Amino acid sequence: MRPFALLVLLLPALSLAQDGSVSGATSSAAAAGYSCDPTVCKLPACNCASTSPPGGLSPVIIIFPLRRPNSLLFPCSEVPMFIVYTADDAVQSYTLDSVNQFLAHRKNPNGCQPKMSYYVSLNYTNYTLVTDWYVAGNEIADHTMTHVGLPPNNEIDGNLIALNALAGIPLSAISGFRAPYLNFSNETLTHLAAAGFTYDTSATASIPVTANYTDAFWPYTLDYGLANNCLTNIGVCHGQPKLPGFWEVPMYALFDSRGQSGIHLMDPWLDSANGGTTVDDNATLAYMQSTFMAHYNGNRQPFGLYTHPIHTATTYPGVQVPLSTINMINAFLDWAQVQAGVWIVSTEQLLSWVQNPVPLSQLNSFEPLKCSTPQVNASICDGIPANEHGLLDLCAFSDFPFFTCYGCPVTEPTPDNPNPVQVTSNGQQPRERLPANCSTPWWDPIAGKCLCTGSSCQFQDNSRPIGPNGANLTGGGFGGNVSSPSASATFVPFNGNAAPIFPIGTWPAIMLGVFGVVCGLYTVQV
Ligand SMILES: *[C@@H]1O[C@H](CO)[C@@H](O)[C@H](O)[C@H]1NC(C)=O
Ligand SMILES: *[C@@H]1O[C@H](CO)[C@@H](O)[C@H](O)[C@H]1NC(C)=O
Ligand SMILES: *[C@@H]1O[C@H](CO)[C@@H](O)[C@H](O)[C@H]1NC(C)=O
Ligand SMILES: *[C@@H]1O[C@H](CO)[C@@H](O)[C@H](O)[C@H]1NC(C)=O
Ligand SMILES: *[C@@H]1O[C@H](CO)[C@@H](O)[C@H](O)[C@H]1NC(C)=O
Ligand SMILES: *[C@@H]1O[C@H](CO)[C@@H](O)[C@H](O)[C@H]1NC(C)=O
Ligand SMILES: *[C@@H]1O[C@H](CO)[C@@H](O)[C@H](O)[C@H]1NC(C)=O
Ligand SMILES: *[C@@H]1O[C@H](CO)[C@@H](O)[C@H](O)[C@H]1NC(C)=O
Ligand SMILES: *[C@@H]1O[C@H](CO)[C@@H](O)[C@H](O)[C@H]1NC(C)=O
Ligand SMILES: *[C@@H]1O[C@H](CO)[C@@H](O)[C@H](O)[C@H]1NC(C)=O
Ligand SMILES: [Zn+2]
Repeated sequence: MRPFALLVLLLPALSLAQDGSVSGATSSAAAAGYSCDPTVCKLPACNCASTSPPGGLSPVIIIFPLRRPNSLLFPCSEVPMFIVYTADDAVQSYTLDSVNQFLAHRKNPNGCQPKMSYYVSLNYTNYTLVTDWYVAGNEIADHTMTHVGLPPNNEIDGNLIALNALAGIPLSAISGFRAPYLNFSNETLTHLAAAGFTYDTSATASIPVTANYTDAFWPYTLDYGLANNCLTNIGVCHGQPKLPGFWEVPMYALFDSRGQSGIHLMDPWLDSANGGTTVDDNATLAYMQSTFMAHYNGNRQPFGLYTHPIHTATTYPGVQVPLSTINMINAFLDWAQVQAGVWIVSTEQLLSWVQNPVPLSQLNSFEPLKCSTPQVNASICDGIPANEHGLLDLCAFSDFPFFTCYGCPVTEPTPDNPNPVQVTSNGQQPRERLPANCSTPWWDPIAGKCLCTGSSCQFQDNSRPIGPNGANLTGGGFGGNVSSPSASATFVPFNGNAAPIFPIGTWPAIMLGVFGVVCGLYTVQV
């Protein structure tokens, strides 16, 4: 490995990461022209765009245990305060290190390490690390193959096919999409819904939650069209596009002391705040906290940390990241996690809750937030680094050399050919790709067999009628063909299977079982 050459090759990944900014309100009530009848549009299949939490849950219930002024005030809530943690672009050792420095040492209230969502573009991605990150319980989602705005369909579909073929991610597990540069249209959303995606998360909530006409809606389905980005994107709003059951998860902007005109979205720590000319971590921390509190004390719309991890990567050769910025982000998360009812989640986990909004007091036993570790001891190429030793192939392409468990393709995957045939000219046995009825940690791509035959580790057939020639994708095979025979079995989510391994974490909150709400403890002047 030549570190210098590698650095030069990786630099484009750094410049690609500059996307996702927003300079003002991207919608308005008039531009949205949105109407939806909540008595007709009901969970779990339908949800109107609304600033109120789903399921009629109450964001704030004030309880005065002592009936006199200046006494203890208990602001209680049935609604969790979610921090959605996402990362975009290529997956490399540097970017995973970067995410780990913020999440690896944390626990949610149920004792599980927080999971996050990675919107992967494949240019410069090290495929085997995607496998590992998925098997560790994180969400892997689609950000196009070569990172293009207003993506052509084959950029979206090809990402799905290549992640399945070369990283062994089950097709059924790839449910979300974010457009590079957050640049999408009516047609992007229409294709995503047709391709079997569950949600898009490219739209922006660009007006403060405290403003009268805020567009900070909880995640909603597009049964009645989009209600965000109405001023900026093509062919959306006034009821368009109508995509029943397909979800939009807005990205919630942050606002500094200038309010609406001090808008920030992705990597807020790279921006200067309050009209200043240089980055000031203290000022960033202050508005991250004030925006969080506006959500927390209001309708508890999720708070997003939308990151490009390369910008905070300390292991990336030749790039210096200010330690104060890293410490500031950790200080923010430390501070947020001691507020009552705060959970750090992936987009997929957030959406599971919105579809089935149990009160905060029941979240510790909520299946999609649980964690488990697959017990696999065999030396196979399965996304568990200890089991993979010596079994990975290095595919030495000049753009970016990557590692994979699933056999090197003869050419780099492209949108037109996302699953090329494997190199076997050196006498190597081809590796078999993950089929629809096995899950990643139990699949042995060398022997081509599933180590677990019980219902707990099989996947149901979630074939998608996308890809060249309208192929109904099922995974499996050796590469070269996009379709293979489908298979059926029952699906038990890899992450939701076992009881939490760790004891319940401690946080300064009081559970009031009778009320089914969770309260913070504050002394305030009333
Ligand atoms: C790619 O993955 C391999 C295997 O885990 C690892 O040894 C290597 O350091 C990774 N390189 C990058 C740049 O991510
Ligand atoms: C990366 O993207 C550029 C264009 O954006 C393309 O020319 C190049 O082939 C891509 N490389 C890979 C490995 O996909
Ligand atoms: C979106 O992408 C298209 C095609 O690349 C480009 O013409 C357009 O300017 C982009 N729009 C924005 C808002 O970036
Ligand atoms: C919202 O509207 C009310 C009454 O229409 C007004 O008094 C209030 O100032 C408005 N708030 C904001 C933040 O614009
Ligand atoms: C949205 O896109 C679909 C599919 O391309 C098309 O049928 C429809 O007319 C478009 N709607 C608008 C408002 O552009
Ligand atoms: C930021 O705050 C810390 C602690 O309050 C202080 O020590 C530091 O000097 C501040 N930095 C700036 C640039 O204001
Ligand atoms: C893996 O090892 C653990 C203990 O080392 C054992 O309890 C478990 O049964 C083993 N699992 C398999 C599938 O062999
Ligand atoms: C998965 O499907 C294939 C093809 O239908 C079948 O041969 C295999 O036995 C199935 N594996 C399991 C574990 O059910
Ligand atoms: C794809 O396969 C699934 C499962 O076999 C089937 O239900 C679905 O109808 C197929 N779709 C198309 C378009 O063939
Ligand atoms: C691709 O599929 C065709 C028939 O559908 C088959 O004859 C051929 O062997 C397959 N190729 C590979 C590499 O699996
Ligand atoms: Zn991007």
